Amino acid sequence: MRIVLLGAPGAGKGTQARMLSHTYAIPQISTGDMLRAAVKAGTRLGLEAKRYMDAGNLVPDAVMIGLIRERLAEPDADGGFLLDGFPRTEPQAEALDAMLGEIARELQLVIDVFVPEDDLVERLSGRRVCRDCGASFHVHFNPSSEEGRCSACGGELYQRADDAADTVRNRLRVYQEQTRPISARYDRAGLLRRVDGGRSMEAVQAELATLLDGLKVAR
Ligand code: AP5
Repeated sequence: MRIVLLGAPGAGKGTQARMLSHTYAIPQISTGDMLRAAVKAGTRLGLEAKRYMDAGNLVPDAVMIGLIRERLAEPDADGGFLLDGFPRTEPQAEALDAMLGEIARELQLVIDVFVPEDDLVERLSGRRVCRDCGASFHVHFNPSSEEGRCSACGGELYQRADDAADTVRNRLRVYQEQTRPISARYDRAGLLRRVDGGRSMEAVQAELATLLDGLKVAR
């Protein structure tokens, strides 16, 4: 399965992608997670990316396209992937099509998870993330069983710097201006499915599973 998850910051892409990756045994390729790992490791990429991320702006296309090109060349992506956070601009979408074209592959499904803006702000302001395994929680909607600690691995929970109110506002603006328009490209190609992400995690998960099961049948 070759799938893209689109949606605004806080729409639940990471939460859903994690569950789907587990259920369908396909790698979740999250560019946000890859960049945060690079920041944590203090690599050159991390140092460059951090200033864009902290401001809620997009990391330059050339950097992101290079990163995804390398990641898709890894063996675990041969059997399919779930892209979470890429593409985010028209040039990234074009580059992805070209990369897949080079290996005679195509995307099979693009899912646009839609959530009203007020809910996005509430989700992001209450999000807590595990420093060790990256699992995402919410202080009200999805609390960890142990306060301040990850219920999956026991790691420390923290609030992402880019979840601060000012940065969230900029991320939502950047999403509207640069990322939202690319869904039209996938709509024209007949690949786009819109999913109401404003419901419970379980309800969203069930609808996504139906879409993915449909792909398995169609293969
Ligand atoms: P990235 O990490 O991709 O951030 P994002 O797209 O802004 O998405 P988020 O991780 O904030 O949200 P999400 O949709 O995954 O929601 P989540 O599941 O966590 O990117 C970070 C930065 O990296 C970017 O700003 C940019 O600088 C850079 N970057 C990354 N990719 C790039 C690219 N391709 N090009 C250029 N730059 C790039 O859920 C949010 C919260 O809501 C959680 O607390 C969760 O528990 C809760 N929640 C989830 N689902 C529900 C539900 N159904 N009901 C109630 N609560 C829910």
